[in-house]
Amino acid sequence: MISLKDKKVVIVGASSGIGKALAKLFIEKESIVYLVSRTESKLKQVQEEIGGITHVIPMDMLNEHSVNKAFSKIGKFDFLSFSAVSDETKLMSQIKDMDTEIAQRGMEKFWGTFNCCRAAANYINKGGSIVVTSSMAIYRPSKNGASIMNAASAAVNVFAKSLAREISPTRVNIIAPGVVKTGVWTENEKTNFSEWAKNTLPVEHLGTADELAYTYFNALTNPYMTGTTITVDGGLTLI
Ligand SMILES: NC(=O)c1ccc[n+]([C@@H]2O[C@H](COP(=O)([O-])OP(=O)(O)OC[C@H]3O[C@@H](n4cnc5c(N)ncnc54)[C@H](OP(=O)(O)O)[C@@H]3O)[C@@H](O)[C@H]2O)c1
Repeated sequence: MISLKDKKVVIVGASSGIGKALAKLFIEKESIVYLVSRTESKLKQVQEEIGGITHVIPMDMLNEHSVNKAFSKIGKFDFLSFSAVSDETKLMSQIKDMDTEIAQRGMEKFWGTFNCCRAAANYINKGGSIVVTSSMAIYRPSKNGASIMNAASAAVNVFAKSLAREISPTRVNIIAPGVVKTGVWTENEKTNFSEWAKNTLPVEHLGTADELAYTYFNALTNPYMTGTTITVDGGLTLI
């Protein structure tokens, strides 16, 4: 295992869920972590909680100027993890009722991924790598009104595989999470999903941000892995 001490890690979506859990893992390895998301106060809270060497970088992934400014402030870095998503569950809508605005907002995750990867490509060090976030729904779509969001995840998947060729030797990998207990869901939804997972999933529990973060960490730091989509879904695609 290469030493990760003083490596520079940019985590977009660090104020919550998977991003926050991943920040903790890199701090344990004495890396320098750039905590990135929209809300400065949430990032400062994470900074206080996890200790180590961190920098708070507020940025709106949907604003090209804001993204470019953030990456130019960070400068050269080694690893980028992208797990940001805006108000995802609020964008669910059955196709018959879906207005164009909701449909366009459903693709925000893709545009955020694109804006960050484009900016990052100018600053990533040789030997560095990128991990972005798709969803297990690209293999097993649900029927709960998430069609556009699933399409955004599929777009992220193919975009990232293309980049794995285009910007090699920089490595680019994709994680496809199943249902995970994070800020995407309300407390009520987390309770309902926990019960569902206990009774339905082969692993008999709902995924946690920490369980996902281990896979992000591995994909970012494994020098022989690129262009791969890793599903971490407690076995949901099996059933
Ligand atoms: N959790 C699940 O069950 C599940 C299932 C399948 C796929 N996924 C995928 O996993 C990813 C979400 O990860 P998560 O569950 O850890 O989500 P999360 O806990 O809701 O965190 C989302 C992060 O995105 C940031 N964010 C939102 N809008 C932003 C913007 N415009 N610019 C910059 N940052 C922004 C939020 O911070 P601020 O509010 O501070 O901006 C937050 O840090 C998504 O790609 C989602 O599709 C999740």
